[in-house]
Amino acid sequence: MNLEMALENITTEVKNDVLIITINRPDKLNALNKQTIEDLHDTLVEAENDKSIRALILTGAGTKAFVAGADIAEFASYSVEEGREMSSMGHFKVFNFIENYSKPIIAAVNGFALGGGLELAMACHIRVASNNAKMGLPEVSLGVIPGYGGTQRLAQLVGKGKAFEMIITADLINAEDALNWGLVNYVTTQEELLNKCFEISSKITTKSPTAVKTAIKAINAGYNSKRNGYEVEIEEFGKCFATYDFKEGVDAFLTKRKADFHGN
Ligand code: COA
Repeated sequence: MNLEMALENITTEVKNDVLIITINRPDKLNALNKQTIEDLHDTLVEAENDKSIRALILTGAGTKAFVAGADIAEFASYSVEEGREMSSMGHFKVFNFIENYSKPIIAAVNGFALGGGLELAMACHIRVASNNAKMGLPEVSLGVIPGYGGTQRLAQLVGKGKAFEMIITADLINAEDALNWGLVNYVTTQEELLNKCFEISSKITTKSPTAVKTAIKAINAGYNSKRNGYEVEIEEFGKCFATYDFKEGVDAFLTKRKADFHGN
């Protein structure tokens, strides 16, 4: 895997089978411009093909922001067509890509997660926030709406009523409210944030990669209006029985040893 590749706005580090992706534009509060979307996509594609990576952590550089949104200066003079293209490419290259990724991605929300930043965190499978984090979808303040899945994923996570309130008032919420509303799984101090993410990822990396990937697929199917989640679960459950990981997991249990999963 070529995770050493030189990317303008992303840095990466591998630790114990976990890839940490840091969005690195701290002087712009890690705002997502086109280049960052491309860099993120390229990194995710590389990591997907690398069997040694079993989970990912996504965070922002610095202590102030996870991501403060899409890059407002970049889209300021977009036409209708360019706006549509920006949204659709973002969905395709990063946001839907992350949601349907074959390996779990944990968002380490280390500060402001606004607009596209909160949408990025919401596309991840698990979110941990530091207690200084502020979250919101303030797009209506700018005369636009969330365009990277926020109108859909926020309602899925916090319910329709809270999603309406957050989106149409543009209010930001703090980490404590985010925890109480189910928007994040845990809140820690900023110093403990990555440790908490590693604690979670260390549980995942010892499990069957094929089963974890299949679980992501089945859970997501229930939120896809074109699919029946229960039917997908039945099919995917059946397919597990043909995998090496299933045979290994069951044999390890029956012979009272630790399973050595290979991800196939
Ligand atoms: N797009 C482009 N640049 C952004 C940005 C964004 N979404 N968010 C912050 N920045 C830039 C600022 O323009 C500033 O750049 P400059 O130093 O070249 O002027 C730099 O990041 C620091 O931000 P600043 O606003 O000075 O920090 P602050 O502490 O005063 O305020 C925020 C922090 C997050 C409240 C404020 O930056 C903000 O409201 N950002 C936009 C949030 C938003 O609406 N996101 C949704 C976009 S769709």
